[in-house]
Amino acid sequence: MKAQRSVAVLAAIGLALTVSALTSQPAAADPGGHPAPISARGAGSIGSLRQEAQKAGILIGSGAIKAMTTTSDGRPPNYLTDPRFRQVLSTQFNSLSPENDLKWMFVEPQAGVFDFDGLDRLVSFAEANHMQVKGHGLISGCCNPDYLTAIKDPIAFRAAMVTHFNTIMQRYHGKMDRWDVVTEPLSTFGGTGLNHNDFYNVLGQDYIAEAFRIAHAADPTAKLFLNENMVEFYPEKRQELYDLVSGLVAAGVPINGVALQMHETFSGPQPGVLTDIVNSYHALGLDVSIAELDVHTYDTVSQAQIYGDVVAEALAAGVKEISTWGFTDAHLYTWLPGAKPLMFDEQYNPKSAYFAVLDALRHYVENTPLPTAPPGAGTLSVSGAGRPAHDGDRYTIKMKLVGDTPGSFYRLYENDTLVAVRGLDCTRGTAQIVTDQFSRKPAGTYVYRGELMNSKGTTSTNTLTVTVG
Ligand code: XIL
Repeated sequence: MKAQRSVAVLAAIGLALTVSALTSQPAAADPGGHPAPISARGAGSIGSLRQEAQKAGILIGSGAIKAMTTTSDGRPPNYLTDPRFRQVLSTQFNSLSPENDLKWMFVEPQAGVFDFDGLDRLVSFAEANHMQVKGHGLISGCCNPDYLTAIKDPIAFRAAMVTHFNTIMQRYHGKMDRWDVVTEPLSTFGGTGLNHNDFYNVLGQDYIAEAFRIAHAADPTAKLFLNENMVEFYPEKRQELYDLVSGLVAAGVPINGVALQMHETFSGPQPGVLTDIVNSYHALGLDVSIAELDVHTYDTVSQAQIYGDVVAEALAAGVKEISTWGFTDAHLYTWLPGAKPLMFDEQYNPKSAYFAVLDALRHYVENTPLPTAPPGAGTLSVSGAGRPAHDGDRYTIKMKLVGDTPGSFYRLYENDTLVAVRGLDCTRGTAQIVTDQFSRKPAGTYVYRGELMNSKGTTSTNTLTVTVG
């Protein structure tokens, strides 16, 4: 049987942003002829969030990176053992933060006994790949050990916090430069003030100020954030957070910023809300970061739209750090059964949401307006030396779009399998033409379909059938 080798050369006429050809898979490694996931073929061919972000001094991060060797929740403990995970994380992001590895019961399972296994692994991965690390989870409602919650005396409790913070923050001094010191202090839906968590129960409302002071003493160089959820949806909670944080600032508490989680379910925030939030904290001299963005919905089109809109609005408002809560649906965390909230699918292929975020970053970097409509429908045609009449002939699939809203990305499917993906320059008003060449295809019927995509949506081309042999 003839080796099935497809997509030998990609010639992008005109405006493709990248010129790197997709490498064809050697027949021995891929007897079925199926292309490897895009991520495994080199993210260079589709650009990278990290490359774009870096041009504008933006941190684009993934949180929820688990690197423990033991786990209490039954999920695979060390994601970094998977080469695909490592590859996408290091090529797409310039920052990372742990999932639960830094939460109290995992990092200090017994009083004074610390487990730095997972965190050390995260830090050395980040160092090897020139990424930053944010500390997440110093104080959380989740995952507090019994020995801690058994302490009822405020003095002893405070002493436990000092030991905990000092040991961790001094170990990672210069390695974790930002910390979510307190996570989710307010009641989930707002309107009822502070959560009565394990810290509040012993220290009262001052636990927040105390935590920031202890953290600042442990590492005076670190930037300290207060992390909260859902303020973009609930105006009352938004006000409560503002009152809390501005009170801390007024009291001289060493806080550097607010980390907005931004877990979105079914819909995104009303346009303008995020900008108002960011402006209000900037006026206090504080940073605002997006700390845990993900979109819990069943519809990948609206998911992409929400991701793109949030990132575009955040960047325009002056946010310099955007992290998602994980990046692959292979390791997702959701409260909506069956939802797949992240930018890459279980096989590490980029989803529409990925392209929407990349698009938003690109437009921010290039300072061009975002599209207001999905791309026009491109037209596929086939041409080729000798035409594909015989087994082994070479032919070219051409996509052409003229005089319509351009796309930022192009994907080509062969018999419903993705065979090419490329970033396109959508900032000039000329025609978009992309050609993909196929050769040495065995006899058979090949159905091609292209997609053009921008942050407003995805448009399909015609389908085109090529019969070989
Ligand atoms: C979540 C983890 O992903 C879960 O594994 C754990 O059971 C609960 O905590 N906001 C936060 C994160 O700040 O720490 C939470 O992480 C998700 C919501």
